[in-house]
Amino acid sequence: MPKLYIETVGCQMNMLDSELVVASLRRQGYQLVATPREADTILFNTCSVRQHAEDKIYSALGRLKHAKRTHPEKIIGVLGCMAQKDQQLIFDRAPYVDLIVGPGQLHQIPKLLEEIAAGGGRRMEVSLDRTEGNRTQVERSFESYDPLRDEEMRPSPYQAFVRIMIGCDKFCTYCIVPTVRGPEQSRPTAQIEAEVGKLADEGCREITLLGQTVNSYRHTADGRATRLSDLIERLHATEGIDRIKFVTNYPKDMTDDLLQAVRDLSKCSHYLHVPCQSGSNDVLRRMKRGYTVEEYREMLARLRETIPDAAVTSDWIVGFCGETDEDFQATADLVREGRFKNSFIFKYSPRPGTKADERFSDDVPEDVKRRRNNRLLEIQNQISEDDNQAFLGREMTVLVEGPSKTSRKRAGIARGDHDDRGEILQLTGRTNCDRIVVFDGHPRLIGRFIPVTVYDANAFTLFAGVVTRHVGPEVYSLR
Ligand code: SAH
Ligand code: SF4
Ligand code: F3S
Repeated sequence: MPKLYIETVGCQMNMLDSELVVASLRRQGYQLVATPREADTILFNTCSVRQHAEDKIYSALGRLKHAKRTHPEKIIGVLGCMAQKDQQLIFDRAPYVDLIVGPGQLHQIPKLLEEIAAGGGRRMEVSLDRTEGNRTQVERSFESYDPLRDEEMRPSPYQAFVRIMIGCDKFCTYCIVPTVRGPEQSRPTAQIEAEVGKLADEGCREITLLGQTVNSYRHTADGRATRLSDLIERLHATEGIDRIKFVTNYPKDMTDDLLQAVRDLSKCSHYLHVPCQSGSNDVLRRMKRGYTVEEYREMLARLRETIPDAAVTSDWIVGFCGETDEDFQATADLVREGRFKNSFIFKYSPRPGTKADERFSDDVPEDVKRRRNNRLLEIQNQISEDDNQAFLGREMTVLVEGPSKTSRKRAGIARGDHDDRGEILQLTGRTNCDRIVVFDGHPRLIGRFIPVTVYDANAFTLFAGVVTRHVGPEVYSLR
């Protein structure tokens, strides 16, 4: 039985892609192993969004050079966004790599691995560059293959990602994603419904719909268009699915119908990830984000008015080309004002092939980027901590995901697993607004929605106790 090791970096799209790759290889008899040393086939599913993500993969490849010399039969493969971006360059930098597969060609992996194992030499399959054909030709070269799913690769057996779109057409000037993931394409509604129905049958309780700009979803069939709000309404009817999330939202497409759907459909998570990127109009213009700070503020106000308890998350890039102290100050002010649940903060990293890299100079020194990054983190963490304090003493419902990191480490168990000795473990769960909660409980609670009462909080975590009830539809107790 061939042994497979896979390492995944990047966004949720990549996590889902890895799940599908593993599922297709398991069908061929592959067995998943925990280290590259035990493996016959070593795959890296890569990300190109920042230089750092690429550097990590190239150094991981470097570490395999020796292993490949002593075990030439081992197959090493590079998948995903960096494969699509660098293509032949990967063979040039690491000649011992056997396989390069872009994110639009992953369905070919079983066949390609077979050919390599049969002595066919190295293989590369990537999609067309966006200028290599007309729109339809390029779209067709990014295939999203029929989702075979693999439970073991999911965040937990009760949670699954569901892709509703591929690609991106927004072309923010700093971003490589439209280049490596190809044109924006929405999946047919019926296909998504069927997939969610199947996940529910397998015991999945929570789904997260994925798209680079998930709220731009639009699929037309028989002359009728389905928007994200319509899609959610249809998925809401799936028995067994009790929580629906979607990421990532594009601020301009945060329409009222969507906000109202989130408000009115009880299974919708009140967690909304709507990246803003900068608080300065000059910077937003150079980023070509397509909105002003005023428009983002208006969107946020509308969102909060419709869903008062919404937890909003944003991404920010600091040190973008030409960002002045005043620009940064405006971003810091917006982070303070917006009271985000959390913020993902990144130092600008020039990406070859993007408009920003061609047109503007990366003129903010590294130490200034670092200072701005730390300052923004400090502001955000203070807000997160203050806002989390408001939950003290409150009862909240959580979906229990599994043993916490601490108890997994202590017991040497994998995520999603638990031992059957029935001992009380430290468990983690998430609230409807995506806050992480840690509490002690019986492993049989895993995969269930349960009430907990919060007794402590820091910027990142709520600490709680399981609420014991002696009446009601289900009885929960610590023992
Ligand atoms: N599709 C998502 C985000 C994709 S990339 C969206 O549009 O919201 C995730 C985040 O990485 C972005 O929101 C941005 O903040 C950051 N990012 C993208 N390109 C970057 C670059 N060249 N340098 C630094 N951060 C970048
Ligand atoms: Fe990148 Fe902008 Fe598309 Fe997001 S919307 S993936 S930041 S180009
Ligand atoms: Fe990275 Fe590709 Fe996702 S570049 S962020 S893995 S779409």
